[in-house]
Amino acid sequence: MLSKKQSQLPIFVINNSSFKSSFFFIIFLTAWFFFLFYWLPPTNPKRISHRRTHHLIGNHVINNHVRRQPFSVYIYDLPPEFNLGLVKNCHHLNVYTDMCPHVANHGLGQPLEHINAVSPGCWFATHQFIAEMIFHARLENHPLRTWDPSRATLFYVPFYGGLYASGNFRETNLTARDDLAVRFSEFLKSQPWWQRANGKDHFVVLGRTAWDFMRTTSGPDFGANTLLNLPRVQNVSVLTVERNPWRGSNQHGIPYPSYFHPSTSSQMLAWQQKMRLSKRPNLFTFIGAPRKGLEKAAIRDELIKQCGQSTRCKLLTCSNGSGASNKCYSPSEILGVMSKSQFCLQAPGDSFTRRSTFDSVLAGCIPVFFSQHTAYTQYAWYLPQDAEEYSVYINGEEGNNARRKRIEDELMKIPRKRVEKMRNKVIDLIPRVTYKHPNASDDGEFEDAVDVALAALANHVRSLLGRELVL
Ligand SMILES: *[C@@H]1O[C@H](CO)[C@@H](O)[C@H](O)[C@H]1NC(C)=O
Ligand SMILES: *[C@@H]1O[C@H](CO)[C@@H](O)[C@H](O)[C@H]1NC(C)=O
Ligand SMILES: *[C@@H]1O[C@H](CO)[C@@H](O)[C@H](O)[C@H]1NC(C)=O
Ligand SMILES: *[C@@H]1O[C@H](CO)[C@@H](O)[C@H](O)[C@H]1NC(C)=O
Repeated sequence: MLSKKQSQLPIFVINNSSFKSSFFFIIFLTAWFFFLFYWLPPTNPKRISHRRTHHLIGNHVINNHVRRQPFSVYIYDLPPEFNLGLVKNCHHLNVYTDMCPHVANHGLGQPLEHINAVSPGCWFATHQFIAEMIFHARLENHPLRTWDPSRATLFYVPFYGGLYASGNFRETNLTARDDLAVRFSEFLKSQPWWQRANGKDHFVVLGRTAWDFMRTTSGPDFGANTLLNLPRVQNVSVLTVERNPWRGSNQHGIPYPSYFHPSTSSQMLAWQQKMRLSKRPNLFTFIGAPRKGLEKAAIRDELIKQCGQSTRCKLLTCSNGSGASNKCYSPSEILGVMSKSQFCLQAPGDSFTRRSTFDSVLAGCIPVFFSQHTAYTQYAWYLPQDAEEYSVYINGEEGNNARRKRIEDELMKIPRKRVEKMRNKVIDLIPRVTYKHPNASDDGEFEDAVDVALAALANHVRSLLGRELVL
């Protein structure tokens, strides 16, 4: 029997000794059996149904091939000073804006009734720095939540650090400014589940950029506290809308929230379809305000100038401040302009990243970046590794002549077929960078920004700990 098989598998016949080849063949079969049995874990029917949904709705889920092991998330019950207490104080959390309308609806903000006929009830005037609240609300209602810490793979600590930071920017007494961050660190130390892995399985979500939590002793004080410099917090995974590309090895970029918060796949599909069919008469667009001083300002001024000079560019300039009358703060205006444009220029603003990047993805508008740190070094969990699949890069770093390149010429060079392919890719990305409505029931629905983060984080934590965690 075996020798007959051997003849069909000549590759294993090493020499004329039939004994030797049968021996190798048996070893091979045994090894293969063990490989199949132990290497491939049993499949979880729930996950399979999730994946099938994705194929069904035609999304190209980037990490689809990554085998998902089951995991669960435990949510800490924090003293209110770390979250709900801050929300209660919403009138005084931001020197520029009253945050109360923005923290409404679990951080989704005020409903936008008339933004479009497609997927009504899914649109909100969401504040750009509020991801931490939405994330929390989504997790509270998430199927992967566990109430039993002994079964948790991940521990979510729902500290609204962004609201805390914005409420303290103007505090000149640094001890007082850091007070809540220090107390947060003390809280972690006192937790029994912290000890299990020195906090390596813990995570926080921050709706503001990492720079707001990494005060340096040199340079001007722009209001940052010291949360992310605290030794204990450095053992925690930090999900933030902008990571520090040089000192943020424990920081992971998550999307800024945009305005679309659907509950179901069909609502998502309807919007994607609308964006695929949208007529885009403008080659490119720039929405933004000039910035004073600094290197960034130079790029912005250049973009505004070039856009103003081109008949193929639609310019939406923002005046100072964030007055309600200001067009470039109106979600329907922004999405209207972006969905009629093929490319959307994304100049760095006060920091490297912009919420606008995610607005442009939502509108099916291909982003054009001028810094590596606006997206490429930020959102590795969310965006394709090959940046050319979904974006255009024009080197805008200081001292580079390319900045003076005419953007219009650069964009005109891209063949139409390629533009179409890129746009389809961008539209395929919409679900993963969208924050679903926190009340959405997850079964069989699309995978959103929170789902992507949890799966990536579970993998990350497993590899950090170098062992399988208790499920
Ligand atoms: C979610 O549902 C609950 C109860 O059905 C409701 O009270 C709450 O307002 C809803 N949340 C949002 C953000 O709409
Ligand atoms: C700064 O704040 C700390 C803590 O709130 C307080 O103990 C200290 O007295 C304050 N220092 C000054 C100079 O006001
Ligand atoms: C961080 O984790 C390491 C082990 O990975 C541990 O040695 C260290 O004490 C932890 N730091 C804090 C402040 O808990
Ligand atoms: C911004 O406001 C300042 C005064 O507050 C004014 O001088 C300047 O012209 C304004 N710039 C724009 C672009 O509106």
